[in-house]
Amino acid sequence: MTSCFILKKTNFTYYFYKVIKIQKIKKSKIESVNFDDLVFGKTFTDHMFICHYKNNEWLTPEIRPYQPLKLDPSASVLHYGQAVFEGMKAFKDSQEKIWLFRPDQNFERINRSAHRLQIPEFPRKYFFDGIKKLVKLEQAWIKKGEGNSLYIRPFVFASQPTVQASASDEYIFMIICAPVSTYYSGGEINVLIAEEYSRAANGGVGFAKAAGNYAAQFYPTSEALKKGFQQIIWTDANNHEYLEEAGTMNIFFKINDSLITAPTNDRILDGVTRKSIIEIAKSNGIKVEERPIKVSEIIQAHENGNLQEIFGTGTAVVVLPIKSFSYRGVSYKTNGIDELAIALKKQLIGIQYNQLEDLFNWTVKVD
Ligand code: COI
Repeated sequence: MTSCFILKKTNFTYYFYKVIKIQKIKKSKIESVNFDDLVFGKTFTDHMFICHYKNNEWLTPEIRPYQPLKLDPSASVLHYGQAVFEGMKAFKDSQEKIWLFRPDQNFERINRSAHRLQIPEFPRKYFFDGIKKLVKLEQAWIKKGEGNSLYIRPFVFASQPTVQASASDEYIFMIICAPVSTYYSGGEINVLIAEEYSRAANGGVGFAKAAGNYAAQFYPTSEALKKGFQQIIWTDANNHEYLEEAGTMNIFFKINDSLITAPTNDRILDGVTRKSIIEIAKSNGIKVEERPIKVSEIIQAHENGNLQEIFGTGTAVVVLPIKSFSYRGVSYKTNGIDELAIALKKQLIGIQYNQLEDLFNWTVKVD
């Protein structure tokens, strides 16, 4: 297809949008994939979306066969980590219809993250057209059934060949897709509450899905893993007194029948699953408190028998019960009754898989 332009008038400004160029693969690799044995994020579909930014504009977006990139060794991202990403999912319902879950939230968040990292905003039209066209092309990779979905990873990084320590003049925005089932096999995890390392600080980039936020967690998390903890719940960088988030998920506590989670701020990711769970809980008449939570409050609630549940939420993990937490060398087991986590997850995935009425208007059909 030749590239042409679509003219759009928004608030007295005319934008020229280029039509996405599509080059399809000759033969799909789908037959070589064992969908019963997927490891999260290791198998990718046949195509990818790519759009370059040069001379102050986003060039013609393309969907191409999935392939390695050619990158100059001095590409700025490799030296300074100027990169942000998103995580979102597409689901297939029993009628084979495909649904995205709250893609507007991911679009807004990737541009908020980009803004903080001095990366140019990506146009809404390219984001939505790119995702819809790519997902449609890869529909055979989306399996029906609870737990199965297509994980969509939009990301943008600095590609200018330079080791100058300043914002790049060139970027690449991409979308790749991975068929996935569960993130953690086993369905529940043990976590360590951070006492030494920190994930984010006031005025930093903790709220953004900046690549470096994740890299900085790898070392402490692998140390924690050796001790049997799958994740770290990060605490405030000042005194390690307040519970924040777990890197791959936001954290909820059910205490005395109230659902409590840390408020979003410049250190905590504004999770799409987090905000969806809050809305579902409220619509069920559950009291939700978004407020700072001290580690001591959780320990106290555990000791008094008032700590009923702990669970994490995130696009990849969905809703994940936490069976124990450890702090200052003491391990605290939750009571193992994950009633609320299970009920909220059921409603969330019911909406995602188009099994329950979408009263919130969250799902977007791909046709
Ligand atoms: C997601 O849930 O999409 C995340 O960003 C977690 C990811 C790092 C696996």
